[in-house]
Amino acid sequence: MNKRHFKTLIDINTQEFKRIIKKAIDYKHQDQSNTISKICNNKTLAMIFKKNSTRTRVSFETAMYKLGGHAIYLSEDSTQLKRGEDISDTAKVLSGMVDMIMMRTNSHEEIKSLAANSSVPVINGLCNLFHPCQLLADMQTIAEIKGENFEKLSIAWIGDGNNMCNSYINASKLLNFKLKISVPNGYEPDKYTLDKFGENVELCEIPGSAVDGADVVTTDVWASMGDEHENEERKKVFKSFQVNMNLMSKAKKEAIFLHCLPAHRGEEIDETIIDSEHSAVWQQAHNRLYSSMAIIDFLIDSNKN
Ligand code: CP
Ligand code: NVA
Repeated sequence: MNKRHFKTLIDINTQEFKRIIKKAIDYKHQDQSNTISKICNNKTLAMIFKKNSTRTRVSFETAMYKLGGHAIYLSEDSTQLKRGEDISDTAKVLSGMVDMIMMRTNSHEEIKSLAANSSVPVINGLCNLFHPCQLLADMQTIAEIKGENFEKLSIAWIGDGNNMCNSYINASKLLNFKLKISVPNGYEPDKYTLDKFGENVELCEIPGSAVDGADVVTTDVWASMGDEHENEERKKVFKSFQVNMNLMSKAKKEAIFLHCLPAHRGEEIDETIIDSEHSAVWQQAHNRLYSSMAIIDFLIDSNKN
């Protein structure tokens, strides 16, 4: 049997995606009643971070603890990766010692190489092209607030056509919701992802058209990790793509606002939206814990012989 990984959302099918969302909601209830079963007893997760993280690190580390296992944090600087050890060698070594590997890095190719050389499941904790773990929490949050009929929803993505945007395209294909994307010229999402998985996507020239009648409005920083040197240039290009209360007023009255965080108030969002009655951002961030537990659970379960 081929090893199941979570390199992108496309590694799971629609049914599995819905099952993971349900499981995440279950874990949230079980956490409240202190009834989580220790399915990771005697298991370890290695977490390799070549980029900074607050939510991804804390959610996976806490998830492993609550599931009865242990997580090992490995920064690039503190490992031999910094001294040039190839990821394929690292994969072969780590997978002989731990039960699962999560990695945050720049290159999607590196995630693929890690998975190809690992005998244990690999989780993409963010790369230049995708952020599939965040989408699990986003979809859990939407399911909790709007229900699980994703196909009835219209979601607006405003800003940079980045790793989050590409993962939203994958999610729109799997869960069959309408995704309206508005990005500046030259900052479009990944062409392959759009061509292959973009059948529910509409590209809108102006943010107002994307947000018009939306159930969910979401955005992300204008300069992702690794793009910071373009910050000043991007501030000019993205100026009219700010999600503010005025733009939000074009969405449905009960529309929610999501942001994967970290956020830059005064840039991609105004000062108020994140704390407004539309915002589900804190619920979304807290759901990272439960969706991390659910993806660990899914990978253990689907890799049982
Ligand atoms: N949203 C997200 O992935 O946050 P971190 O970068 O803090 O992990
Ligand atoms: N697009 C952002 C997401 C951070 C969670 C980045 O890659 O920096």
